[in-house]
Amino acid sequence: MEVVICSTYDELSRRAGAAVADVITHKPNAVIGLATGSSPLGLYKELIRLHKEEGLDFSRVTSFNLDEYVGLAGDHDQSYRRFMNKNLFEGINIKPANTHVPDGLAKDYRAFCKAYEEKIKAAGGIDVQVLGIGSDGHIAFNEPGDSLASRTHTVTLNEQTIDDNSRFFKRRQDVPIFACTMGVGTVLEARKCVLVANGKGKVKAVAAMIEGPINSMCTASALQMHNDTVVFLDEDAASGLKLADYYRWIQKNKPKAPK
Ligand code: F6R
Repeated sequence: MEVVICSTYDELSRRAGAAVADVITHKPNAVIGLATGSSPLGLYKELIRLHKEEGLDFSRVTSFNLDEYVGLAGDHDQSYRRFMNKNLFEGINIKPANTHVPDGLAKDYRAFCKAYEEKIKAAGGIDVQVLGIGSDGHIAFNEPGDSLASRTHTVTLNEQTIDDNSRFFKRRQDVPIFACTMGVGTVLEARKCVLVANGKGKVKAVAAMIEGPINSMCTASALQMHNDTVVFLDEDAASGLKLADYYRWIQKNKPKAPK
């Protein structure tokens, strides 16, 4: 895992955005995996800026989102489809037909999840996967205790995640308790992962992901088994890392590192 500690959220967003843009520049028909939530908002703003000001072209890009709440229609104001349209897709030239977000109203989730996996495969697999991390260490909606080999599936959100996400809803009881999510196994097949985390609320989860044992109690720790994951952190999120100074030293010497 490469760990990049940034002094501000803006810097983190710029650098993470550049890492995603680099994949698209080298492969204009790239398949990108996307996350929702507050962490990647700055990254998405940066992708929109790169599109508008520097011509980053999404016309041949295909996207797959990590997850969606079960029970929310795509036009619900808290659906992840709506979030993506508003915070990224409407600001870039991606073709709406090339964007995929799990269906919050699927009639048969077993069939839906299988088909979602097949679509990812048919598209050639995910070239770069954007990730956030939950305060309980989840990636996508793979909660503590979930299998580290899981594929796209439905999940019962735990109370911590419901509490965390209630800030987006009028009332806590409005937060759906089920979601459809890519599995950890699905995420690990992405060729590159770019994870962003900021703020004090992520200190424990970030430390467990990077420096803890690989363990289903922190499903993000499975990324230790992925060979091209870059984690962009602000100082707050990085403040629980034992090896923070070493990660800074690695980044400082990166320009001189052997190719
Ligand atoms: C969302 C997702 C989640 C979030 C995580 C952090 O698609 O997959 O894993 O990345 O819950 O959410 P924020 O960024 O709101 O703290």
